[in-house]
Amino acid sequence: MSNTIAVGIQWGDEGKGKIVDLLTPDVDIVARFQGGPNAGHTLVIGGEKTVLHLVPSGILHDNTLCLIGNGTVVAPETIVEEMDTLLAAGIPVDERLRISDRCQLILPYHRALDAAREAAKGKAKIGTTGRGIGPAYEDKTARRGIRLIDLVCDGLDAKIDENIDWTNFLLREYFHAPEVQRSEVDAVLELARARLLPLMDDVTLILHERHKAGDSILFEGAQGAMLDVDHGTYPFVTSSNTVAGAALAGLGIGPNMVDDVLGIVKAYTTRVGAGPFPTELYNDSGMDDASGKHLAEKGHEFGATTGRPRRTGWFDAVVVRHAVRIGGVTGLAVTKLDVLDGLAEIKLCVAYECNGKRLESIPADAAMLDGCTPVYETLPGWNDNTFGATSMAQIPANAKALLKRIEEICESPVTLLSTGPDREHIIRL
Ligand code: GDP
Ligand code: IMO
Ligand code: MG
Repeated sequence: MSNTIAVGIQWGDEGKGKIVDLLTPDVDIVARFQGGPNAGHTLVIGGEKTVLHLVPSGILHDNTLCLIGNGTVVAPETIVEEMDTLLAAGIPVDERLRISDRCQLILPYHRALDAAREAAKGKAKIGTTGRGIGPAYEDKTARRGIRLIDLVCDGLDAKIDENIDWTNFLLREYFHAPEVQRSEVDAVLELARARLLPLMDDVTLILHERHKAGDSILFEGAQGAMLDVDHGTYPFVTSSNTVAGAALAGLGIGPNMVDDVLGIVKAYTTRVGAGPFPTELYNDSGMDDASGKHLAEKGHEFGATTGRPRRTGWFDAVVVRHAVRIGGVTGLAVTKLDVLDGLAEIKLCVAYECNGKRLESIPADAAMLDGCTPVYETLPGWNDNTFGATSMAQIPANAKALLKRIEEICESPVTLLSTGPDREHIIRL
């Protein structure tokens, strides 16, 4: 197989974990390049569910090297807990996983600051996952972050003291929130020393050497294009670049190492957390459309990391077209087609109406996007059962027509069609 970047092209939770897991047998290496434990990637094999936050979604396969790149922010407690769950299930994680020496660590003071900021914002909060993602990336950019390599370098104590002082000043004086104790941080550093240092490696070098030797690589994105810190619905975004381009800087490779970009997309739209969502139909704060409820219930739309109910709505082709452009997407993996079974009609948003004007692309201003009304095309639904389908012969004509229309308006071919959560529920096109 060629070297492929697999990215979400909506607001996350598109089914990246499932798709990466099923493509893993075709590659030698799976590499994560951004995000952190805000991600929740679900794998279902023979009905058994595994949820991964930091460990790459190729980990269940023998003979696959899993890498965590420098662009990722790693919470030692979270990854160790994940490793322990996998070890208990008989997966030799330590043999299969390597973590970049340049990874930034998420420490307890990052989570404290994340929580204090969200609490202070009240109704205007972003609805973060509370995993300390924003503060960890802030420290990285401010050049005061703690990297995995720092655990074996001189001067760590002073850096930690300085960071705790600074954060506690903010927590105490500005947020009137409880301070973080040095002992909490030390416990996490201790755990990282014991469990993560043995896995620390020069991930960039590994990738270059294995690429030279002819190995193929699958790059696994987290979140989705609309949560990208530059190209998403800012400020209602995460704190990293989530587009395919982030794979390059997040692993230390050049564009010449990449052949394809697979855009993973649900056959409808979901979002968890606050921010504009033009095609929204259903949420836990009062929107109660029957089709939206169908999507939420049939799609079991609850966050894999926080358990929060996801907001649901129709497929938004303006979003997906934007994501295809900014990601250089060469093919689409459409997931959750089965969730549309039983809907009398299905809508596709093809443009927005905004201040009396038709818009074909995403405005930069979140407030303006919030005020946009979707322009819909309506297609007939189907009553047949597509759940678990493994060949196009099992897909009804109206579903095929929907997919064809998605290809046309999103300007990208559908190369994978997912019809259920299990690894086996897939049609390769
Ligand atoms: P990720 O963050 O992109 O990996 O996605 P999540 O794991 O957060 O959410 C996707 C959810 O949909 C998980 O519960 C998956 O098991 C499930 N899923 C993935 N593909 C399909 C599909 O084609 N049909 C159905 N019904 N569920 C799916
Ligand atoms: P996966 O990889 C869905 C959302 C949060 C919030 C915003 C900022 O499973 O698709 P953060 O904690 O990153 O500062 O939160 O981003 N968010 C996600 N939504 N799926 C994810 O990851 C997400 N990671 C972050 O809900 O709106
Ligand atoms: Mg998820």
